[in-house]
Amino acid sequence: MRILSFIMRYIVSIAANLWVSVVGIFPKYREACYEAGYRLGWRERPVVDEGLPPLEIPSVALKTLVPDAPVCRILEPDAANGNVTEWELLSIVQLVASRKPKACFEIGTFDGRTALNIAANMAPDGHVFTLDLPPQEVERTALAIARGDERFIKKSESGARFKHSDFSDRITQLWGDSAAFDYTSYEGRMDLVFVDGSHSYDYVKKDTETARKLLKPEGGMILWHDYGSKYWKDLTRAMNELYRDVPEFKPMRCVGGTVLVCCEIR
Ligand SMILES: C[S@@+](CC[C@H](N)C(=O)[O-])C[C@H]1O[C@@H](n2cnc3c(N)ncnc32)[C@H](O)[C@@H]1O
Repeated sequence: MRILSFIMRYIVSIAANLWVSVVGIFPKYREACYEAGYRLGWRERPVVDEGLPPLEIPSVALKTLVPDAPVCRILEPDAANGNVTEWELLSIVQLVASRKPKACFEIGTFDGRTALNIAANMAPDGHVFTLDLPPQEVERTALAIARGDERFIKKSESGARFKHSDFSDRITQLWGDSAAFDYTSYEGRMDLVFVDGSHSYDYVKKDTETARKLLKPEGGMILWHDYGSKYWKDLTRAMNELYRDVPEFKPMRCVGGTVLVCCEIR
């Protein structure tokens, strides 16, 4: 009897595996396919935060923020794990191409895809500064990083996508921990700051405070990534608080269909 029950379960599991590999090509069933891959050690399982806080920052269509839809350039369109999505990249370059900032600061370089695209769409004499944490400093950050940040910190090369591009002379790679970096030479000089470093609550709060200080006295734009992402619940909580409690951040808007938040401060 026990043998029969084992054979039945064995046959059902073979059928289930065949089913997963066949229908796994359809988006609806892809998670089951990935799950099999994680169990076989294909890659680290992404950290999913349950119980995302309600989204308090209003969402608007991209065309509300960029009514004129300027001509823009998209370089390195293919997104890797850790990059903004294609639609998010388009949203960023539309915002950049319409405002034409001259000086931009990015917290969180990764492979340099966003820095490259900002450089390609900003004012022709503009410059991007992009800060990344050296991988060997991952254990010694000033504040606690989020669970899941490590895989984007520990990479073989930062900024690989812009290093040999036509825009490499318009991008300066900076190294350090965003919570401990000396920003003295950059404060009050930026038109645009993109916050996309560590996803922990403390880092989002600290990097936002930094972003505010980096903007020119007449103001500018701050962009954040990952608001409302199911992987970064604490980031969403921090952003909700900033929106709720800091009057200057009331113009924060989430770009429809993305996890990008944009705030113009004047
Ligand atoms: C999600 S990736 C940025 C993606 C990038 N903006 C893009 O799409 O092209 C996050 C980056 O933040 C960096 N980072 C994480 N914690 C940091 C810290 N404390 N200081 C500086 N950079 C940090 C990581 O090394 C990683 O390169």
